[in-house]
Amino acid sequence: MRVVTARDYDQMSRKAAFIFAAQLLRKPDSVLGLATGDTPKGLYRELIRMHREGDIDFSSASSFNLDEYVGLRPDDPQSYRHYMREQLFSHVNIRPESTRVPDGTAGDLDAECVRYESALRSAGGADIQVLGLGTDGHIGFNEPDQEFPAATHIVRLDESTIEANSRFFRSREEVPTMAITMGIGTIMSARSIVLLASGRSKAEPVRGMVRGPITPRLPASVLQLHPDVIVILDEEAASLL
Ligand code: F6R
Repeated sequence: MRVVTARDYDQMSRKAAFIFAAQLLRKPDSVLGLATGDTPKGLYRELIRMHREGDIDFSSASSFNLDEYVGLRPDDPQSYRHYMREQLFSHVNIRPESTRVPDGTAGDLDAECVRYESALRSAGGADIQVLGLGTDGHIGFNEPDQEFPAATHIVRLDESTIEANSRFFRSREEVPTMAITMGIGTIMSARSIVLLASGRSKAEPVRGMVRGPITPRLPASVLQLHPDVIVILDEEAASLL
C-alpha cells in the first residue's frame, strides 16, 4: 500500500486524475471501477477538464460503479446512476451502454447481485477502482462486520452511514436503508485501486486502514493485502499517520 499526501482536496483530486489519465492512455479500453459520494467529485471534475482539453478519451472505456441504493429509480436525483450522469458520464465521451450501475429497483435483488458480479467478471474485471472511505472504515457499502463479504450483495446500511448520507437528502427519513454493493472480494479483484480520503473525519479510519490490524471491523484494512493500492490523502485525512 503506497500512501501519498496532498496539500489539499484539489491536489488530491489532481493526483488521482493523473493516475486515471495514465490508465486510459495505456489501455484505452480500460474497465473503470467508479464510486460516488463527495470525495471523487474533484477527480471527476479533473477528468472532464482533461477530456475537454483533448488529453483523454473515454470512447473505448467501460465502467462499473461500486454500489446503488435499493428502491431508487435511475432517474431519481438521489440515485447513484443520476449522480454519475451529472458528475461524469454526460460530460465525457464514454458510451452510455458501457456504464454500469447496479439496478436498485430490480424485482429480484439477489438475481441482480449475481448478474452484476458476472457482468463485471465477463468484462475482465476492473483495471482500476476508485474508492472513498466511510467514517466507519467502510468501502463500497461494506460496513464493519464479522467477516469480509466476498461478492456483490444486498446490505442494510449502518445508522452512522445513514446519518452521514442524510446530508444528501431533504430528511434522514428519506435515506434508503438498503443498498446493493460490490463485495470485498469484488473490490479486491480490481487490478489496481486508488483510495481517496479528505478531511478530519477520515483521519481515524485512515489510520486504522493503513496501520491497524486487517479486520472486517474496519473493512478498508483489507486493502493492505492488495498488491497495487495507492492511498491519496489530504493533510487532514493524513493527520493521525
Ligand atoms: C460511494 C461509496 C462509499 C463512499 C464513502 C465515503 O459509492 O461506496 O463507500 O465512498 O461513504 O463517502 P464520501 O466521499 O461522501 O465521504
